[in-house]
Amino acid sequence: MDADDVGAARVRGAIVTGGSRGIGLAVVRRLVDDGWAVTITGRDAAGLDAAVDSIGAGTGAGAAARHPVLPVVADMADDDAPERILAAHADAGRTLDALVLNAGMGHGSRIVDTPLRRLDRHYAVNLRAAFALVSQAIPALREAASGASAARVIAMSSMTAVMPEPGLAAYGATKAALVSLCETLNAEESAAGVIATAICPGYVDTDMSAWKHGDLAAGEMIRPDDIAELVGALVRMSRYAVMPKIVVSRPGEGLFTA
Ligand SMILES: NC(=O)c1ccc[n+]([C@@H]2O[C@H](COP(=O)([O-])OP(=O)(O)OC[C@H]3O[C@@H](n4cnc5c(N)ncnc54)[C@H](OP(=O)(O)O)[C@@H]3O)[C@@H](O)[C@H]2O)c1
Repeated sequence: MDADDVGAARVRGAIVTGGSRGIGLAVVRRLVDDGWAVTITGRDAAGLDAAVDSIGAGTGAGAAARHPVLPVVADMADDDAPERILAAHADAGRTLDALVLNAGMGHGSRIVDTPLRRLDRHYAVNLRAAFALVSQAIPALREAASGASAARVIAMSSMTAVMPEPGLAAYGATKAALVSLCETLNAEESAAGVIATAICPGYVDTDMSAWKHGDLAAGEMIRPDDIAELVGALVRMSRYAVMPKIVVSRPGEGLFTA
């Protein structure tokens, strides 16, 4: 058995922020089905418990290899959230092979109508918390990367990071910053096996995009499972494959609109 086989044999651990519903929950299901030990976070304890219960009830092909999902109640806007999340994961004896920066919020308004407190809230939840979590997680990520195996940071950015959408300036600015964070992290840490990817989807059918249903039917949106498939593929790749940014578009003439 070589070093890679040893890496594949051990249980890999992941943290998925905002893992209680939407894209995050789809990612958690995928990782759990693939045998990962996953810690999930969110503000709503009942929502987290419901997510854990729904996953625990699964009977899919990977059910035998399932590890319990660990819920951590945390508001990403709180300064102590990153430390508490990382401590809970480590205290459960889990390695940090993947950190999925998924928790996020968005409130639309045109720039002229956007109060600074709204920008501050987007910044706190979508970027500042993600930056702090990555920063504090780097030692654990470096430790998890071994042999050909990478430790992956996957940030849920947005199409608005690469193409503007009127009314989403505050949201898009924080999502563009996540792309930059992943690119710089790769420049600093990829040689040590810590590899970052920003996923930039157009509209995905979740609670967050429900406001859009007047213009765009839920059935026309990207599926959360599509994004989970991407995450599942990224975490199987060797440390020699660096994909700084993946744009996921919807069909039609306006490919690069959200
Ligand atoms: N849906 C889309 O069209 C779309 C497109 C591109 C990118 N994205 C991005 O993908 C990510 C997931 O989006 P989604 O559509 O799955 O959203 P969602 O269905 O609204 O789920 C958001 C998740 O994040 C958690 N969350 C929200 N605010 C939080 C906070 N302050 N602290 C901690 N957790 C928080 C929520 O749990 P609690 O409410 O319990 O805190 C929930 O688990 C977001 O970063 C979003 O910006 C979404």
